[in-house]
Amino acid sequence: MRLDKLLSNLGVSSRSACRDLIRKGRVSVNGSVCRDGAFHVPDDAEVALDGKKMDTRVERHLMLYKPAGCLTAAEDKSSKTVMDLLPNQYRTLGCMPVGRLDKDTTGLLILTTDGDLAHRLITPRYHVDKVYFARVDEPLTKEDETAFSQGIELKDFTCMPARLERVEDTLGKVTVQEGKYHQVKRMFGARGKRVLQLHRASFGTLVLDEQMQPGDFRELTEKETTALYRAAGKTNE
Ligand code: URA
Repeated sequence: MRLDKLLSNLGVSSRSACRDLIRKGRVSVNGSVCRDGAFHVPDDAEVALDGKKMDTRVERHLMLYKPAGCLTAAEDKSSKTVMDLLPNQYRTLGCMPVGRLDKDTTGLLILTTDGDLAHRLITPRYHVDKVYFARVDEPLTKEDETAFSQGIELKDFTCMPARLERVEDTLGKVTVQEGKYHQVKRMFGARGKRVLQLHRASFGTLVLDEQMQPGDFRELTEKETTALYRAAGKTNE
């Protein structure tokens, strides 16, 4: 990839501003200053800006602890969105949420620049588990567990078999492989129960980091990234 394009893709600045930086000799490739924006950067090259080595991975992946009260959307005129919780650089890089959590749902949200990975993670075909904890308004029963495992029938579709485990009387751990609109809430609704709180604890192999607080985010580690790609039947090499 051209050096100016690489820098702007990495969120440094606009393409023309990156060309300026390069012309001024602030960028080096494999230890030598490069003043040519059109220079083709080899895949494994070390690129530094003002002497500081840059992370040149093209695809970027984040975990965000979504707090209640913000929308899973790129932007919204009246409400705060998950993108408002991130530095602008990630928007520039093209990080987008993988699927949606409702405004009042908390927990793990993945954001990635890899659209194909995002698609695979949310498509039931790849059988990627999403685990939620749901606090409901009525005690859960054995019959609820059986109904979830058989595939709950909603007005417009029949859910795939899911797993419901009773953690407490009114707290259930739910594992689903699909993510239709309000799905978990609607599944409980079909059993005559209202979800009072919903929290996503994991998505595929990725577990919400217990050090994180609502609103926090971090990049995935290499190990987490590799495992997630594998869960989606893809490789990140
Ligand atoms: N199911 C729901 O009902 N809401 C969510 O936010 C996620 C899954």
